[in-house]
Amino acid sequence: MKRELGFYMGLAHRVSGLALFLYLFMHIVALRGLFDPPGFEKEMKFLDNLFGLLIEWGLGAAIFYHAFNGVRLIAIELFGQEGRQKKLFWGVLAAMVAALALMGIFMATAKDSYEAQRARFGIFWVGLALLSATPAYLAVEMIRQKMLGRHTVWKIQRLTGLILVTLVVGHYVFMHLTFNTGHDYKTILERMSSPLVRALDFVLLVVAYGHGTYGVVTILKDYLKPSLARKAIEAAVYLSVVVFTLLGASLLWSLPYSAN
Ligand code: HEM
Repeated sequence: MKRELGFYMGLAHRVSGLALFLYLFMHIVALRGLFDPPGFEKEMKFLDNLFGLLIEWGLGAAIFYHAFNGVRLIAIELFGQEGRQKKLFWGVLAAMVAALALMGIFMATAKDSYEAQRARFGIFWVGLALLSATPAYLAVEMIRQKMLGRHTVWKIQRLTGLILVTLVVGHYVFMHLTFNTGHDYKTILERMSSPLVRALDFVLLVVAYGHGTYGVVTILKDYLKPSLARKAIEAAVYLSVVVFTLLGASLLWSLPYSAN
């Protein structure tokens, strides 16, 4: 039973990781629409209905599961809690359901303006600070336990995962605090008028692609025998990541600092 549960949790971790990796490409394509404001508004209108809401909410399931289960895996490695697999599973599931329920409420009751929902931003910053305490503690513990040993790259995969908890969960929740934060051209550019926000978005882009690429290449190695075909797929993954990192970065440095 223990083994079965671990297997399904691992499989769900893979599927959610792959889904997030693929989503990143679509996200960059969609955001390139910001270069053409009327086109972007049309794109966003497509999501302005129940179907769009459900897709965006469903993305949260992949994010929350992968993030919380990733934290569980890292904690197990650091403190050895395999015997509590079942309890930890319910912990991950409960945290995911709670986060999704909260997002559902935020999304279903979202108003357009920042002023109308000032309190949400207060809750957001306090919640993000609390959420970040666990990965920050685990990252310090990893360094304290001399993480840079034989499996350096794999350990860096864990460290980037911990950084992504704050960056990815924070980004996703922030973008859904009001309807406009993630959909309105002017509001998006207002957020990006700060060079610090652009720098953080850049870190998110690079760390997420770095972490995701290593994860995908590991999956390929697990399922495909060494062959020319696997080498070709790996090369295609690396090439697409480089191209899309550059496309994302060019967006960050060339979008105007104001919508006017
Ligand atoms: C949000 C915070 C995140 C955390 C805490 C996290 C954590 C982890 C951990 C610990 C692993 C290794 C799993 C193992 O040992 O089997 C992993 C694998 C992986 N991650 Fe993440 N990750 C996060 C975000 C992301 C993002 C944004 C992406 C996509 C861009 C991603 C894609 C992947 C992939 C594809 C794998 C390989 C899956 C596997 O082999 O099981 N992760 N993640």
